[in-house]
Amino acid sequence: MNTVSLFQTLPGNESDEFACALTAGLRAKPYQVSPKFFYDAAGSALFDQICELPEYYPTRTEIGILAEHANDMATCIGPNAEIVEFGAGSSRKIRLLLDALHRPQRFVPVDISGEHLHASAGALREAYPSLEIRPVVADFTRPVALPPRMPGHGARVGFFPGSSIGNFDPQEARRFLRQIANQLRGGGLLIGTDLVKDPAILHAAYNDAAGVTAAFNRNLLLRANRELDADFVVDNFAHYAFYNAALQRIEMHLISLHSQNVHIGDERFHFAEGDSIHTENSYKFTLEGFHALAMEAGFRPAATWCDARRWFCLHWLEAPA
Ligand code: AVI
Repeated sequence: MNTVSLFQTLPGNESDEFACALTAGLRAKPYQVSPKFFYDAAGSALFDQICELPEYYPTRTEIGILAEHANDMATCIGPNAEIVEFGAGSSRKIRLLLDALHRPQRFVPVDISGEHLHASAGALREAYPSLEIRPVVADFTRPVALPPRMPGHGARVGFFPGSSIGNFDPQEARRFLRQIANQLRGGGLLIGTDLVKDPAILHAAYNDAAGVTAAFNRNLLLRANRELDADFVVDNFAHYAFYNAALQRIEMHLISLHSQNVHIGDERFHFAEGDSIHTENSYKFTLEGFHALAMEAGFRPAATWCDARRWFCLHWLEAPA
């Protein structure tokens, strides 16, 4: 069982956490590090570019589904809702939802990057002056303290688009969903999932011709050089992404092209030619498989909206009171 993990249990600031996670992940094979460390400022900018790539269909497909079905989603959510978004998402997606909702009361974006969060909260405040916007700077993979519910507010509803749930291993996904099902009791969760499909389409989405995904993957090593006094020669590692059909997931790796030594601070790490650092899993789902996972976590799947090609899907999961 692979353990590339979105959950980190070590305390400290982000760089300390990255240092601990990376050195621990490189001390024993299989070498691995959590995909959550992709998202420093450079990595977040590269991810924004990925979302615009012709090969990377998930973002535009999900936006298309939201645009087409936002009114039905709003009906499921009900009036006066309080929306909690896990991760600083695309402002286009949340706006499509907010525009369709009936008198939304409060929007609570939760993200680890305070800078990104406050910038996007400011823009939303201007666009939605009657909506209370309460950003929470926190790592949403851990239990997050949400602001207390207010009298007169409708359901508390989670929004987790982008199929970021696919970056959790199944056990972690269950734990995360269980944690938020408790926080959303009496409301629900609107969540996006990328679906199992022709492996050639998946392969292209994670091996784009312009090399942006490769740069995103390698940025992890550049981040280690910037923040952790590491001396990775980035060109000595190749981006490698493939669809593992048995496990229904894209795997991303960085492959050592030579026998080489790398230092992180005072510690030396040896990589043989062909050694891999496993940097990300991106699980793909069937509708039945995802609904089973959601039910194990305590949700009740109540509605599902897919695009015509059935490449991507949004689910409305009710969280019983
Ligand atoms: C954020 N997450 C859903 C993306 C995905 O598709 O798994 C991250 C990504 N990795 C490579 N390309 C995009």
